[in-house]
Amino acid sequence: MIFRVIEYMKRVVAIVMMFSFLICLSACGTERQIDIPSAPQEGGVTEECKNADGTKDGTEKPNHSQSSYLVVYFSATGNTRPLAEYAADILNADIYEIVPEQPYTDADLAYYTGGRADQEQNDPAARPAISGSVENMDQYDTILLGYPIWHGKAPKIIYTFLESYNFSGKTILPFCTSHSSGIGSSADNLRSLTQNTNWLDGKRFAAGTSKQEIENWLNENDMKPNSTAVSAKIGVFNFEKHTVLLNSGYEMPIMGLGTYSLSDEECYDSVTALLESGGRLIDTAYMYGNEAAVGRAIRDSGVPREEIFVITKIYPGTQFANPEKAIQDALDKLNIGYIDMMLLHHPGENDVNAYLAMEKAVDNGKIHSLGLSNWYVKELKEFLPKVNITPALVQNEIHPYYQENDVIPYIQNLGIVVQGWYPFGGRGHTSELLGNNVISSIAEAHGVSSAQVILRWNLQKGVVVIPGSGNPAHIKENLDLFGFELTDNEMSQINALDRNEKHDWY
Ligand SMILES: Cc1cc2nc3c(=O)[nH]c(=O)nc-3n(C[C@H](O)[C@H](O)[C@H](O)COP(=O)(O)O)c2cc1C
Repeated sequence: MIFRVIEYMKRVVAIVMMFSFLICLSACGTERQIDIPSAPQEGGVTEECKNADGTKDGTEKPNHSQSSYLVVYFSATGNTRPLAEYAADILNADIYEIVPEQPYTDADLAYYTGGRADQEQNDPAARPAISGSVENMDQYDTILLGYPIWHGKAPKIIYTFLESYNFSGKTILPFCTSHSSGIGSSADNLRSLTQNTNWLDGKRFAAGTSKQEIENWLNENDMKPNSTAVSAKIGVFNFEKHTVLLNSGYEMPIMGLGTYSLSDEECYDSVTALLESGGRLIDTAYMYGNEAAVGRAIRDSGVPREEIFVITKIYPGTQFANPEKAIQDALDKLNIGYIDMMLLHHPGENDVNAYLAMEKAVDNGKIHSLGLSNWYVKELKEFLPKVNITPALVQNEIHPYYQENDVIPYIQNLGIVVQGWYPFGGRGHTSELLGNNVISSIAEAHGVSSAQVILRWNLQKGVVVIPGSGNPAHIKENLDLFGFELTDNEMSQINALDRNEKHDWY
């Protein structure tokens, strides 16, 4: 009997424990799900959090970096046209001008006269005909649409344009120029003419807006250069424009001025001479102590800022240890708004961290492109996997006695542009190199100087040149590299001069 009672009590206790366990389990169930973080999906954003366009709810701007852009514009008096051209140039985008079948005369455009433009704007049904059409609208996913404001609205020809194509699934970013009106309701009216189209907030610009302002606006909208178009041309020297397209999407001149050893006034005068001679690429560095002089010469030159490309560098030691300060110091000393390109001066302790700080400055628009100086194959192999932005440029010692024929193709095959310092061999070696028989006789054959031959040899190898000089005549001559071309045989003769002879310790 006692045994049975004990057995009975055991069962009761067991049943009570089981119930309590189940109750606890169900009560804890929801909490458990919250406590255990779900595995992050690719890109760190769970599907539920994404909007239809793939952006995170309210936190991030849409990413148009991979877009195929078309810049479309209508410009009756020429104010909107340059802005559209700037945008197309910056984005490497195709451009399409809306041309009226019947051009607008001055009388048509004279407003408050009851002329043609006034009538069209007052007539809800007006749809002026367009001459020609966009050939393959399907290939574009983002349209930048520019127009003037006419009586607070977009000209009716824009309505004609929007009703002529299917913009479903595409993004449209409107912009306008006007005398004083904002973009206001003009863009809202346009929205109703398209279906399933992602209209972004547009912006009004004054006539004469600079390319830099357009670039800032595109950055604000996260519009980056068209990557497919870009990849086809990265690193290829354009001998007509004297530029090369970097993997960052920016264009850089292929010849310029190195300012190593040029102190203050001499540096100011040299940069001034360069800019007066049409040169637009300047290489400086914290270590050269002349960033302020470079900036002053640029500001005094009257040359538009966006035409000039400035490279500076931060140095191992205290600068790499506190790269944010080093970057800010360079910005302050140069005092030219942004820095076109910043390099790490040479490998050293904290170089990866310093580079990551420069990446942040790129995100903030303070620096446009990044690069490295004095990085060779081994150093690049170690460094590149640790950073996010592939450098746009590597700047190394390159001259006929130290040619780096193994290093240059390695770097170029990574989509990185190569730039050479010490093109004439560096201090103490210049006269020997310029006097070299092979180089002198090639120079004589072309009626140019030895210096021009060496610089041209670099360009034909795809190496950007930044010869240093404090002599205005030499600075001018060093830019004059496009009136002659070295033959394959002459290139081979110079290639044969290589001695693997480094002239500096980097
Ligand atoms: C018919 C007509 C109406 C205009 N209405 C306005 C207006 O309402 N507000 C304004 O600020 N500017 C107005 N403007 C000025 C233009 O918007 C301005 O000059 C614009 O930059 C012209 O661009 P475009 O040269 O690309 O055609 C008007 C111009 C015309 C021809």
